[in-house]
Amino acid sequence: MAVKLSAFAGYSESRGWRGARLPSVTSELLQQLEQVSDEARRGLEAAADVAALTEQERLIAAKQGPLGDISRALGSLDAEGKKTVGAALNAVRAELKELSQARRSVLEAKERQARLEAERLDLTEVLGAPVDGHLHLITRTRYELEDVFLGMGFTVAEGPEVEDDWHNFEALNFPPGHPARSSWDTFFVELGSEEQVLLRTHTSPVQIRVMESQKPPIYSVMPGQCFRRETPDARHLAVFNQIEGLVVDKGITFGDLAGCIDTFTQAYFGPGIHARLRPAFFPFTEPSAEFEVVCFFCKGDGCRTCSKTGWIELGGCGMVDPNVLQAVGIDPEEYSGFAFGFGIERCAQLRHDIDDMRVLLDNDIRFLTQF
Ligand code: FA5
Repeated sequence: MAVKLSAFAGYSESRGWRGARLPSVTSELLQQLEQVSDEARRGLEAAADVAALTEQERLIAAKQGPLGDISRALGSLDAEGKKTVGAALNAVRAELKELSQARRSVLEAKERQARLEAERLDLTEVLGAPVDGHLHLITRTRYELEDVFLGMGFTVAEGPEVEDDWHNFEALNFPPGHPARSSWDTFFVELGSEEQVLLRTHTSPVQIRVMESQKPPIYSVMPGQCFRRETPDARHLAVFNQIEGLVVDKGITFGDLAGCIDTFTQAYFGPGIHARLRPAFFPFTEPSAEFEVVCFFCKGDGCRTCSKTGWIELGGCGMVDPNVLQAVGIDPEEYSGFAFGFGIERCAQLRHDIDDMRVLLDNDIRFLTQF
């Protein structure tokens, strides 16, 4: 809003400053001030960008500029004139300051908007082609594995990722201090008493939770994330997924386990897959075995991906140890069962010829869009 000079002593609406009872120098200075402030106002309003506005502000503030001239001329006025012109000059300066601040915020907002527009990343443009969102390969593999087992009559169950020592170790026949615990490089959570709460190292604790909550017959698979203090390499990640399987019923034998794994591998990898079971040790299964498939890269000759063994381990399995059945109140004289735990990333790796598992977590769109 323009300064109303009529607010100052000596101004007459009809005659303006000239007709007022003021000494002529005073009224001339006030007139000059009015012109200067009109020009300054127009200059501020016309500034098209922050740089032009800054230049206008510099002119207004300059000691040698028109307002500076008026300020210097005050010295030649009498006391009344000094008071009148001085007050008018201060009011004009305050008004111009307010106007330039308002203009500055408009121009800065405009420039910020233009900068954001220029810097905006258009994520719909990758290599010139639009990208459709889809499930990550790990999630897709999990769903495909679930589907295979659902087709075989299994149900799907889940358990917590933060577990207690009882479910992750003790109920699985790892008593406290058992040396096998150290082979599960565990992340402990600082909660409760020491080393009692942890990030589950495998999906086997979900077996315990299923058996605690259901009575046999049990035919269940349990997919989920696991955590181990491991240095990632071609076949290992520190955060990975497993799918656990558990069958508890009357008269279940190792032959049922072998048949189940064979049916699964034929359904998931297709006929002609070359696989084997090798004796192994897990505290919660007896006998135990490792399930391996021939390395898809070297076809058994030995390479970097299979650590020169010619085989890639897909999971562990075995007959549920009677101690485990007892821990959850199932009578091992009446029931027997088998369990297995496969790596979901390993399944994806084998099925899609991925030589290094770490690419699954790189989030490289060129890799992910292939699946
Ligand atoms: C276990 O975790 C057992 N709980 C499996 C089991 C279940 C045995 C039921 C008997 C009965 P293991 O540590 O070998 O076993 O892991 C099983 C599979 O998980 C491995 O063969 C592999 O496919 C996958 N796996 C294990 N560690 C990793 C890792 N760091 N990164 C990716 N996959 C892994």
